[in-house]
Amino acid sequence: MAKMGVECTFVSPDCTEEELNAAFKPNTKCVFGETIANPALTVLDIEKFAQAAHSYGVPLIVDNTFPTPINCRPFEWGADIVTHSTTKYMDGHGVAVGGAIVDSGKFDWLAHAEKFPGLCTPDESYHGITYAEKFGKEGAFITKCTAQLMRDLGSIQSPQHAFYLNLGLESLHVRMARHCENGQAVAEFLVKHPKVSSVSYCGLSSDKYHALSEKYLPHGSCGVVSFELKGGRAAAGEFTKHLKLAAIETHVADARTCCLNPASSTHRQMTDAQLQEAGIPAGLVRMSCGLEGKDDLIGDIAQALEQVRA
Ligand SMILES: Cc1ncc(COP(=O)(O)O)c(C=O)c1O
Repeated sequence: MAKMGVECTFVSPDCTEEELNAAFKPNTKCVFGETIANPALTVLDIEKFAQAAHSYGVPLIVDNTFPTPINCRPFEWGADIVTHSTTKYMDGHGVAVGGAIVDSGKFDWLAHAEKFPGLCTPDESYHGITYAEKFGKEGAFITKCTAQLMRDLGSIQSPQHAFYLNLGLESLHVRMARHCENGQAVAEFLVKHPKVSSVSYCGLSSDKYHALSEKYLPHGSCGVVSFELKGGRAAAGEFTKHLKLAAIETHVADARTCCLNPASSTHRQMTDAQLQEAGIPAGLVRMSCGLEGKDDLIGDIAQALEQVRA
């Protein structure tokens, strides 16, 4: 983002209202968060962040990829724009990279015109129209997205990939229930295991985010469970090596179970201390439970844990 001239101020999802208020700057344009963060699996207090964003005249954008609209509809809690990586559960089979932006059409851009010149002043590349005047709050942002991101810059799926995505969407509601059932069963197994030091899954009554999940995710969260092995990076490496059913993949939220130790793959450039600071300890394993039978999944995890010596 910095390379594109966009600065970000980070706040913890658990921040106090004071800390949240202190993060807003005169040039803040939006607040962005994930309903369920990947891979820490924190749950966002959407109402709290929406209220803060609105009091500073900016929209709340929520990445709702992990719960999908089946398990959470952030607009009902005050979010203004929702994004999804459709590459994940929506497609469900990892066949087509894609993303979606959904605009609630509720944010009043003109009321904060000085912050949003791209929507509130004439766009010479689009016949001199002012999006917020021509399309109203219902259509301004999403029309700019389609006119500029899709038409001018080409952020658009190929017809074949859109076809794959549509196939996936038709069974999303059935698959999400199974992902949640498997995630819950795996989390309950892991939390009792002597080689596991901690488990993050908001469906566990012991989880730090359980109360928030009861509010925002009453029908389930997702199939992704993160846990930490007592033996750290070495133990996590050994564990993943012995898995037979779960594939080692960067991909997540798929019909097939996929597993990742960020410290030895996506985040391997970072030291243990840097990982800890980012909320991704070196021994963290992200297990994305697929649609397999839960007994098979637990059996695979159990035999891999058995072989961990560290
Ligand atoms: C929550 C979330 N949002 C967005 C993305 C980006 O997805 P894509 O690979 O489709 O660009 C990811 C990828 O892991 C993700 O987990």
